[in-house]
Amino acid sequence: MPPADAGGSDKFVGKDILIIMLDVLGTLERTNTCGELRVENVGESVVLMGWVAKKRDFGVFTFIDLRDRDGVTQVVVSEETAKDAHAKAKNLRGEFVIAVKGEVVRRDEGAKNAKLPTGEIEVKVSEILLLNDANVLPFQLEVAGSENLAAEDTRLKYRYLDLRRPQLQHNIRTRAKAVAAIREYFDTRGFIEIETPILLKSTPEGARDFVVPSRIHTGKFFALPQSPQILKQLTMISGFDKYYQIARCFRDEDLRADRQPEFTQLDMEMSFAHQEMAYREMQGMFNHVFAKVGGIELPVAWPRMTHAEAMRRYGSDKPDMRFEMELVDLSDDLRDTDFAPFAAVLAPENSQAGSLRSGGEIKCIVAKGKAEYSRKQLDDLQDFVKRYGAGALAWIKVGEETTSSLLKVLGEEKIGQLVTASGAVIGDLVLIVAGRRSVVAASLGALRIEVAKRENLIDRTAYKPLIVTEFPMFEHDEETDRYTAAHHPFTSPMDEDLEKFTTAVNDESQHHLLGEVRAKAYDAVINGYECAGGSIRIHQKDVQALNFKALGMSLESARTQFGFFLDALEFGTPPHGGFAAGIERTCMILCGTENIRDVMAFPKTASAQDLMMDSPGEVDGSQLKELGIEVSDV
Ligand code: AMO
Repeated sequence: MPPADAGGSDKFVGKDILIIMLDVLGTLERTNTCGELRVENVGESVVLMGWVAKKRDFGVFTFIDLRDRDGVTQVVVSEETAKDAHAKAKNLRGEFVIAVKGEVVRRDEGAKNAKLPTGEIEVKVSEILLLNDANVLPFQLEVAGSENLAAEDTRLKYRYLDLRRPQLQHNIRTRAKAVAAIREYFDTRGFIEIETPILLKSTPEGARDFVVPSRIHTGKFFALPQSPQILKQLTMISGFDKYYQIARCFRDEDLRADRQPEFTQLDMEMSFAHQEMAYREMQGMFNHVFAKVGGIELPVAWPRMTHAEAMRRYGSDKPDMRFEMELVDLSDDLRDTDFAPFAAVLAPENSQAGSLRSGGEIKCIVAKGKAEYSRKQLDDLQDFVKRYGAGALAWIKVGEETTSSLLKVLGEEKIGQLVTASGAVIGDLVLIVAGRRSVVAASLGALRIEVAKRENLIDRTAYKPLIVTEFPMFEHDEETDRYTAAHHPFTSPMDEDLEKFTTAVNDESQHHLLGEVRAKAYDAVINGYECAGGSIRIHQKDVQALNFKALGMSLESARTQFGFFLDALEFGTPPHGGFAAGIERTCMILCGTENIRDVMAFPKTASAQDLMMDSPGEVDGSQLKELGIEVSDV
């Protein structure tokens, strides 16, 4: 061992072994953060602490970019004025942790860095303390442009390092501010924060549960909450009147760019509430959070649209309103066609106008000024819509001489008629899909967004919120011919559809009417993201029992699953309703990212793994034995 060096220094022992003698922090305290110093501080003696982000060696001078969570400050060490510190600086490497003492000085005119808030000053170092060393990082933190970042899997494995990147630091702090703003909003409006358990019984949000085996009750399981839905309704029965919670939810479902198996909701519920009151709180909360966190002013009263209208005009229940390109229905213009694929789609037995069930239709979108799309680009778009179940993508390029994939089968006159119906003009590209209503909506709805992204039609500085109302109460599963709850089974039907609902449940021959029943359910949509969803609940036991019956649940199985809740409904339940907002999705918008992992400190991968902790993993045999569980080879 080399002798300890009071100032801290590096010594090589043997070939590759670097022994670093660390300094102790003692009682030394920071005077400032690395993002704080400005010209006003020139002349002050300061102590900064942080990580070596960059080091440049210029012989007698060594420049270090010192970074902490607040920013970067350039510190300069001169061999002439601080010999010891300069010697130490020579041995510093990226991500070493140091403290520097020194004086704030004004940078020479030519050395100013306008890109840094601290760019007009630097700290002239008198002393360096080496607080810790660091291995060479498995990937570079500072790269120009997100496209040059290391592979995401590598970054997730070393998430604690990736989190050092200023962008992620910013996102996680934005999230903290958003949660603080949410609490502020609800606290000042008389809502009470109530925590509900994580070890629970199955909750009804429609995904698979994550289950936790009980050791004390061998063979029995808890389920993690998919949401605190039932519990928040119970707080209304308990008389708390206004509840909220920042609640962790767990859903074992297929993941997407905006979905994680474990995520956080703002969950709220209020008594004696009708839909307008719920909309008011939803708007109020988002408006407060966007203003407070992002300085973004959303409209006091958000535009509204029924679910049916959103599906008709945008092919989506969460339309991105930052651009137009609405879907246009061409079905009526093609009803007389002999072209077999179109005729089959529009055959009367497929068309159930007025019904929420899937009928056949032919619709298009118009890509303005895109008639010059190449064969290859059109083939790409065709492949794109096929992913959503569409059989094909037909097109019309409107020009002095109009061309179309349908010209041969429909003829010039019909093509002209379709162009007029679509509203396209010379230079535009009409993209057409025929098929089941649900497929046309899904494929053209997604294509609308895809074209807008490819063609940069989305104003990234705009924030366009929308309340989508009157969701269908049920979803029809074509395979099993069963109805499932579109939101969850405690959602109330609309008063206008109550009679239809009762008839559909009580009269077997009218069961299909369930597909037409609308619910007092609503979503908050911002920039094409479903940021919140909620409903007015059923507060009468008989209506709740009727709903379980509609969902094909026997009274017995309803009792097994939700008996405690049905009982609770009998003890004076006030009318109530609420909503839950996705914290991650809200923060994705506030941070301008399309990747949900960018707003979570320790996220899972798209295949629901934690690469850093290597979980899920095996557990010890004795642990399984205690739980009475045997794992069979799968
Ligand atoms: P819902 O299921 O619509 O409603 O969820 C509410 C909001 O939570 C967010 N969200 C998710 N975010 C990330 N990953 C996921 N896997 C995920 N799933 C949902 C969305 C969504 O709008 N109990 C009801 C609320 C109520 O009725 O009050 C519920 O949970 O932003």
